[in-house]
Amino acid sequence: MMMASSIFLLITAFFLFSLPSFALNVSHDGRAITIDGERRILLSGSIHYPRSTPGMWPSLIKKAKEGGINTIETYVFWNAHEAQRRQYDFSGNLDLVRFIKTIQEEGLYAVLRIGPYVCAEWNYGGFPVWLHNIPGIKFRTKNDVFMNEMSNFTTVIVDMMKHENLFASQGGPIIISQIENEYGNVIGSYGNDGKEYVQWCASLAESYQIGVPWVMCQESDAPSPMINTCNGWYCDQFTPNNPNSPKMWTENWTGWFKGWGLQDPHRTAEDLSFAVARFFQYGGTFQNYYMYHGGTNFGRTSGGPYITTSYDYDAPLDEYGNLNQPKWGHLKQLHLLLRSMEKVLTHGSVRSIEYGNMTTATIYSYDGKSSCFFGNGNPKDDATINFENTMYSIPAWSVSILPDCFSEAYNTAKVNSQTSVMVKKENAADDFEEPYTLKWQWRNEGFEHSNKNGLVEDSLMTVEQLLDQKAVSNDTSDYLWYITSFHVNNTDPILGKETTLQVNTAGHVIHTFVNGRHVGSQYAQNGKYSFTFESKIKLKVGRNEIALLSVTVGLPNYGANFDLVQTGISGPVNVVGRERLDELTQKLGGDQKYIIQEVTKELASSKWTYKIGLRGERQQLHDPMLSHQWRWFGNNLPTNKMFVWYKTTFKAPIGNDPVVVDLMGLGKGHAWVNGKSIGRYWLSYLASENGCSPTCDYRGTYSNSKCLTNCGKPSQRWYHVPRDFLKDDDNTLVVFEEFGGNPWNVKFQTVTVGTACANAYEGNSLELSCQGGSVISQIRFASFGSPKGTCGSFGAGQCESSSALSAIQKACIGKESCSIDVSESYLGPTGCKDTNRLAVEIIC
Ligand code: GAL
Repeated sequence: MMMASSIFLLITAFFLFSLPSFALNVSHDGRAITIDGERRILLSGSIHYPRSTPGMWPSLIKKAKEGGINTIETYVFWNAHEAQRRQYDFSGNLDLVRFIKTIQEEGLYAVLRIGPYVCAEWNYGGFPVWLHNIPGIKFRTKNDVFMNEMSNFTTVIVDMMKHENLFASQGGPIIISQIENEYGNVIGSYGNDGKEYVQWCASLAESYQIGVPWVMCQESDAPSPMINTCNGWYCDQFTPNNPNSPKMWTENWTGWFKGWGLQDPHRTAEDLSFAVARFFQYGGTFQNYYMYHGGTNFGRTSGGPYITTSYDYDAPLDEYGNLNQPKWGHLKQLHLLLRSMEKVLTHGSVRSIEYGNMTTATIYSYDGKSSCFFGNGNPKDDATINFENTMYSIPAWSVSILPDCFSEAYNTAKVNSQTSVMVKKENAADDFEEPYTLKWQWRNEGFEHSNKNGLVEDSLMTVEQLLDQKAVSNDTSDYLWYITSFHVNNTDPILGKETTLQVNTAGHVIHTFVNGRHVGSQYAQNGKYSFTFESKIKLKVGRNEIALLSVTVGLPNYGANFDLVQTGISGPVNVVGRERLDELTQKLGGDQKYIIQEVTKELASSKWTYKIGLRGERQQLHDPMLSHQWRWFGNNLPTNKMFVWYKTTFKAPIGNDPVVVDLMGLGKGHAWVNGKSIGRYWLSYLASENGCSPTCDYRGTYSNSKCLTNCGKPSQRWYHVPRDFLKDDDNTLVVFEEFGGNPWNVKFQTVTVGTACANAYEGNSLELSCQGGSVISQIRFASFGSPKGTCGSFGAGQCESSSALSAIQKACIGKESCSIDVSESYLGPTGCKDTNRLAVEIIC
């Protein structure tokens, strides 16, 4: 008997784990994407695998699924995988196969946007910089050299996916793939070759026979069967070029990205859900949040120029993977509702009633059932409509959804989810005596100069020309030295009193040195990446050396021919002497006038010696396994001094909450934890003083200049340290400080929910939750009836139930999360005339 049952178990286990995955038939018509014969509503979210870590993937994807998402979209990042030509890297957070399999394990679909041009605020739009240096190449147009490289990489990816059976046609999760990216936005600049290139892209894609549809986003003349799709903050008015293409939205921007020197963008949950609801009101079938989780630009991956290390995007999951509430929860309710209406939305007949003043009712009917959307696109006026003899009020800039065309199940402007206020907690594992202070070691990064024989050690080459920085360095470092010298004899007029150095650079940052001494630094500001550096200098008789260290901060990723935008010292580089010709001094009416003669030494076509990178980069000081080979000092820690490497150790914070390092006090540079880059930092670049507002009205068209915060503060102060980067015992932080800063205030912290509040309408169920194992410790406020005020300053209204607080305390205290039925039967009678609301504030 025993035997038989264990054999049975074994057989069941065998079948469970070796279940053949069934191929899915993915097709489409003008109405929807159809998977195995079922027309689908696809609610998708972008998560970029290299912007997170393998340790984060399962929980990010789980949280997306819990948020009602059924599809995950990602780009493929060519320059990350093929940093050197024909040498591929799919390890660690570049393990694309593992990422797609993690999506599959959660039972979600995947959309693979191969590009391989991706834009994405990613360095050089995803192109490897070596591509730029191949003779005869022209990017993104009919050019054999480019097309050969593009098809080579695309084939590598498609073959890899096929080999792992990851396309839906093979039983995998990938239901859609993308070729190119928003080429329609720039096609005009490429003439006829651009048009031919689009055709070529389409036939390349088709030649792979992957058995699932291909999309081309923002490409209004996408050749059939490529589906052209929409990107933007709103896509309800979009129609694809081919009547057989369904209405698809590949990028619904959930917020916006951030740049150094810029404020924090926010897009409200009300406006985002409004855009989604309208898209489905007007016949949409596939909608993807760009981004659902934005994540972090580790290493030197951020593009721009000047994209910050954080790519939070104000997405439903924040940079660290926490729920961004109320956005996540408010969208979740919408997703569940839309999915429950899948049949009627994708099969139903559609009619609409115009009520004027931008108010429209759309009615979907199928199989004897009807579902309605009541949309009010007016940014100011609330509307009241009479639909089938019932009056409905629809707030301005909102959509109500009535799955039975009678009772409102959701309105985009009525948020019933909690708003979480995130807090940073100090690292309790580092049991320092107060105050929290890390112990630092340091080492200087020297300034480059030539030796007695005029030679620069480890230089790359010497040529009589100023060259584009990325072309010289292949973008293997942010740093490139340009060094030249010239002779001055004692009668040279350039030796006059006022000698200046003028350097024209294409950006982004320059440090200048004359005869080994720093004379000044400057960085591009306000989006003007080319600028002239000018400073007084002192020359000497004999040989004078000018060393310029040019620094890039991410290469451009967008626009026609963005690949050709120059970086580094572009010239002219001039030394200008001003000589006072005393013998010509004249006395005219009491005014002394001198004749000043300017003498200019043009250096642009002198011999320039190029040296890539910093010494510390070559010595691999960022890597704790190697950095101990070099001498570090423990005393006399320099502060506010440029070009210093700092090193310290710390303990991994206890618990599971995400870890950040507060780099307050540092200037600009790069940071590594246990040898892994956590990205560039630049705290000394403050976000602009202007443009922020304390209030944010969700009504009216969103743009990235609306609802800004963080004015006048460091553009990014906290830097994510994924838990995967940490060890249980001592961990090492290394930073290279380029501008000069003070490391004494650097701290490791965890990020978690501090307090949360909600304002939920009667008839809803309210979920309240803390995170990371912490529990609801106190109900700071609760009023059910007609409460007033906003989160943090709630107050009771004219009527309220007397038992709401105790009911909530009973349900929630001591729990990580709890669910409250917002009704009089649960919270007690209120005696109010209007619909009751519950305002509650909890402490975690
Ligand atoms: C789109 C582009 C994305 C991303 C986005 C802005 O135009 O396709 O890759 O750059 O803009 O975040």
